[in-house]
Amino acid sequence: MFHVLLFLCFCWWRLIGVFGSETNETKSVSVMEGDSVTLHTDFTEIHEDDEIMWSVVAEHTLIAQIHRASGIFSTFDGPDERFRDRLKLDDQTGSLTITDITTKHAGDYKLEIIAAQLSSKTFSVSVYARLPTPNITRDFSQNSSSSSSSSSSSSQQNCSLVCSVVNVGHVTLSWYKGNSLLSSISVSDLSISLSLPLEVEYQDKNTYSCVINNSFTNQTQHLDISKLCQIHSELSIKEQGLPLFYILIFAAAAGSLLIVAAVVMCCICKKRRKTVQNHEEDSDSALCKPKTHKKKSKSEAVYENVPKKR
Ligand SMILES: *[C@@H]1O[C@H](CO)[C@@H](O)[C@H](O)[C@H]1NC(C)=O
Ligand SMILES: *[C@@H]1O[C@H](CO)[C@@H](O)[C@H](O)[C@H]1NC(C)=O
Ligand SMILES: *[C@@H]1O[C@H](CO)[C@@H](O)[C@H](O)[C@H]1NC(C)=O
Ligand SMILES: *[C@@H]1O[C@H](CO)[C@@H](O)[C@H](O)[C@H]1NC(C)=O
Ligand SMILES: *[C@@H]1O[C@H](CO)[C@@H](O)[C@H](O)[C@H]1NC(C)=O
Ligand SMILES: *[C@@H]1O[C@H](CO)[C@@H](O)[C@H](O)[C@H]1NC(C)=O
Repeated sequence: MFHVLLFLCFCWWRLIGVFGSETNETKSVSVMEGDSVTLHTDFTEIHEDDEIMWSVVAEHTLIAQIHRASGIFSTFDGPDERFRDRLKLDDQTGSLTITDITTKHAGDYKLEIIAAQLSSKTFSVSVYARLPTPNITRDFSQNSSSSSSSSSSSSQQNCSLVCSVVNVGHVTLSWYKGNSLLSSISVSDLSISLSLPLEVEYQDKNTYSCVINNSFTNQTQHLDISKLCQIHSELSIKEQGLPLFYILIFAAAAGSLLIVAAVVMCCICKKRRKTVQNHEEDSDSALCKPKTHKKKSKSEAVYENVPKKR
């Protein structure tokens, strides 16, 4: 008795299944740019005299056809050849595969089966662009980084970060702390750059991540506070160290200038004293020797010349 009931149920289910395939159904398919998508007929094997036709709904263009009885098994490139070398038709099931898909291939595709009965199925194909990995960088335009006070004196100072992506459309960019959403920004335009700020404390041990998503996929970049913020604190030390370096150079330059000036002054003083000595005693001095020698030799020459002429 129970078995009969079960059998009746099974028959009824089969009947619904047959009716289901007769009505026009629409199936949504999502695929990533560059990937392949297969539109399934759900047949295990097509019959000799079944005719299968695949077409692009928007353009009423036939792109694939099978009718074994008349020896037809073809794919077509489409009016703008956008299906050239991209279509694969399964001769057993009649399923159609579109390879290396682009956004130009998004849209509705219609499968028509002319068998004992006419049935059709529509596939709505959405093509999603590949998402770039978000980029987390230090935000140097923020106040905390430009303040000259040293980070050791104010340990509460925060590390300012920004997560950014370029050339994206129809995406959401979000900051997560662990699994909880901190902030997010959405954009519906095409080809735009997005950025979202985040403030963390230098000693923060939580895990932060920046996630970009569309309705199909997502990309995550994890934040390494110790790396990103440490690099900056080293940089700030360098920034603070730089003026000191210049001051030292300036001091060294000024010091050597002073020494040179002192030597020159000393030399001038000695020379002046020597010229005075030359006039009075005509004697040598330790400093500025060459000049005195010249003067002396000149004066000797004069004296030597005089006797020769005589
Ligand atoms: C189902 O498809 C056939 C032909 O493909 C069409 O004539 C008919 O109007 C469709 N029915 C519905 C309910 O969309
Ligand atoms: C991330 O941003 C930095 C600084 O703007 C840049 O140098 C780097 O190339 C970016 N990386 C990526 C993967 O976009
Ligand atoms: C820096 O902070 C001061 C107040 O603390 C504010 O007036 C100024 O707009 C801030 N500048 C930037 C670039 O954030
Ligand atoms: C520092 O960051 C924390 C969150 O990490 C925030 O609550 C706090 O207000 C920030 N402080 C400053 C001065 O921006
Ligand atoms: C990103 O994902 C969230 C849920 O995780 C969703 O609400 C949002 O619509 C998605 N963004 C886009 C652009 O589809
Ligand atoms: C990103 O996508 C994966 C599946 O691909 C999902 O498990 C995860 O929850 C998504 N993450 C976010 C933050 O939406």
